[in-house]
Amino acid sequence: MSLLANVLSLADFEAVARRRLPSPLFGYVSGDCEDGQSRRGNRLSFRDYEFRPRVLVDVSNRDQGITLFGREYASPFGVAPMGIAALTAYRGDLVLANAAAKAKVPAIMSGWSLIPLETIASIAPATWFQAYLPRNPKHSAALIDRVAAAGLQTLVITVDTPSPANRENNVRAGFSSPLRPSMRLAWQGISHPRWLFSVFLKTLIRHGLPHFENWHGGRGTPMFSSKLNTDIAQRGHLTWAHIESIRERWAGTLVLKGILAAEDAKLAREYGVDGIIVSNHGGRQLDGAVAPLRVLPRIIEQFGGGPVMIDGGVRRGSDVLKALALGAACVFVGRPFNYAAAVAGETGVAHAIALLEQEVSRNMAMLGVCNLADLTPDCLLKASSWPT
Ligand code: GLV
Repeated sequence: MSLLANVLSLADFEAVARRRLPSPLFGYVSGDCEDGQSRRGNRLSFRDYEFRPRVLVDVSNRDQGITLFGREYASPFGVAPMGIAALTAYRGDLVLANAAAKAKVPAIMSGWSLIPLETIASIAPATWFQAYLPRNPKHSAALIDRVAAAGLQTLVITVDTPSPANRENNVRAGFSSPLRPSMRLAWQGISHPRWLFSVFLKTLIRHGLPHFENWHGGRGTPMFSSKLNTDIAQRGHLTWAHIESIRERWAGTLVLKGILAAEDAKLAREYGVDGIIVSNHGGRQLDGAVAPLRVLPRIIEQFGGGPVMIDGGVRRGSDVLKALALGAACVFVGRPFNYAAAVAGETGVAHAIALLEQEVSRNMAMLGVCNLADLTPDCLLKASSWPT
């Protein structure tokens, strides 16, 4: 029986990926920061809402398509940006972008990636690119010009990383950045031969030592280099003035990711941002930061006009539909797609997308809606406001 025959939901990928990946890498992907409050809160926030389904509606023709920034997508969810995806799956960023392009859903390539953005752009040109702005404004200008020259059209700037997070879990799991060769790491490789041969050594042989390719205008440091920290560490000096200069330089679609306060959504609008992703970085930055779903309605009110998207804790079609009913234009999913790529490459990610697509479609039928536009807050009840 194929491995994927037993993967019946997005959550099922995790256990398989845990066995497949060296524990520092699995720890990096699955981990959060400090006490993991926000990561757990993201999942729990979906329980705040319950559906109020309508029955005996003709739902035989259902359409889960959306239009975002003038482009049509087949489903209302996409692949969130995830760092070093090419270390958990062979050519991971490409695998994610290709599977998404074939399924016609959006994918965001992480700026903390090991494959040049030009490679992704030449194969999956509709991929969005997420950047962590370099400290030096000259570097950030060069990066923006590079993204434009590659022909990518949607630039996502992550704004919730003024300081590296306190990822104690990474220390415990033996993951560090830069990766420091050690006996422990070597043993992890030897004891995960499938990963060692089909991801790590295959990458080394075919593409050389992985570098952070998309850090600025040129090639970034190798992932084992001690210069990495000075390259990426503190971004505390970044302000709205930087967004202003990016807006001047970048003619494409500009999205900010990591907004949680309605006041910031309003500012984003004032600075000419086209869309925002309400996000607490999958619970990986400020532990205790509110779950995106909880602030979504207020943020939509303040942003006005452009699409407000969301990520964090989405594991089921029902989660997607709850976010959409509250006004999200699209929902991004991270870790499960990363596990899917680690487990079975592009076939795995295609399977994950198909599972979510089927859940969305089935649940639309049981909710009595044919189009996503029919999903409104009326389809939901907040758990605290059950009718008595
Ligand atoms: C990168 O964005 C990470 O959260 O590890």
